[in-house]
Amino acid sequence: MEKNIVVIPWDGIWVEVINEWVKILKKIEKKFDIKFNLEYKLMWACAIDETWEPLPDDTLESARKSDAILFWAVGHPRFDNDPNAKVRPEQGLLKIRKELWLFANIRPVKIFDKLAYRSAIKENIVAWTDFIVFRELTGGIYFWEKIRKKDKAIDICEYSIYEIDRIVEMAFKQAMKREKKLISVDKANVLETSRLWRERVSEIAKKYPEVEVEHLFVDNAAMQMIIRPSEFDVIVTENMFWDILTDEASQISGSIWLLASASVWKQTGLFEPIHGSAPDIAWKNIANPIATILSVAMMLDYLDLKQEAKAVEKAVEEFINSGYGTADIAENKEKTLWTKEVGDRIGELI
Ligand code: IPM
Ligand code: MG
Repeated sequence: MEKNIVVIPWDGIWVEVINEWVKILKKIEKKFDIKFNLEYKLMWACAIDETWEPLPDDTLESARKSDAILFWAVGHPRFDNDPNAKVRPEQGLLKIRKELWLFANIRPVKIFDKLAYRSAIKENIVAWTDFIVFRELTGGIYFWEKIRKKDKAIDICEYSIYEIDRIVEMAFKQAMKREKKLISVDKANVLETSRLWRERVSEIAKKYPEVEVEHLFVDNAAMQMIIRPSEFDVIVTENMFWDILTDEASQISGSIWLLASASVWKQTGLFEPIHGSAPDIAWKNIANPIATILSVAMMLDYLDLKQEAKAVEKAVEEFINSGYGTADIAENKEKTLWTKEVGDRIGELI
């Protein structure tokens, strides 16, 4: 079997981490009967430098035809510090999400027992935490009209029923496969889009009577996630709310370098670590490649290569249990490894 993968690295510390991606894919090819055709494409700040576009057409077309896209984190200090930049790397990210209809952003948050002590929250509270979030990714305030006048600015937030229904359905289906508990996050006490959101969730819930549904206002959800993260199972919410809550959720796991995410629909899927591009630690060989490696596992799962995905996940778990790792997760100084060594060891475990 062959799979065509478009690889989009470039900004920040990709140089170090991309090798670990490839290393893991090579291991999977060797162990299982599969071939990955990798095609490297330009995006982000480097693409702006070369083409004036954060997402050149040629990259978009290859991505559209691919089976999956491996994606590196976006962000470059040159643009972050310039609020007036006309072209920004982030525009490329929003465009690829929209153009490829990647409306479902799936972000699992799982505690590795071994690392519970590293969490920003007390170990006994985070123990056993394992939840999965469905974030709507191509609608809401991110994508509607932005107006700038001399003395004011306007961002419009709009949600249509079909946009809400398709992500909510997906979340219910996932809840049926798990503990049958769904939390829907909104701000229905203030926002009209949230009132529609809540209405649709309640309507769709009728089709899934076994699923216990809880509605939380987003401010309360931010608090509940810290008080009782282990009771969360499946969460569904709109675009902006989970963008904000993701960064909070990442601290439950102990390190933002452990979480991967998938943005999917039928045509293709895009897989990326949730952390940023971390240009401040580029070229030092100290970045933790685990989120990147786990995004490969999510990709394999999406491609219906279940056994292969399990092999990667198991190798990562075993590696973490060994107490070794980059400085953010290593048990002690003696067990601290370079980026490359982490990839080597996980590769061996596969
Ligand atoms: C994310 C990121 C993006 C978002 C940025 C880079 C536009 O923060 O994927 O969470 O806000 O969606
Ligand atoms: Mg974000």
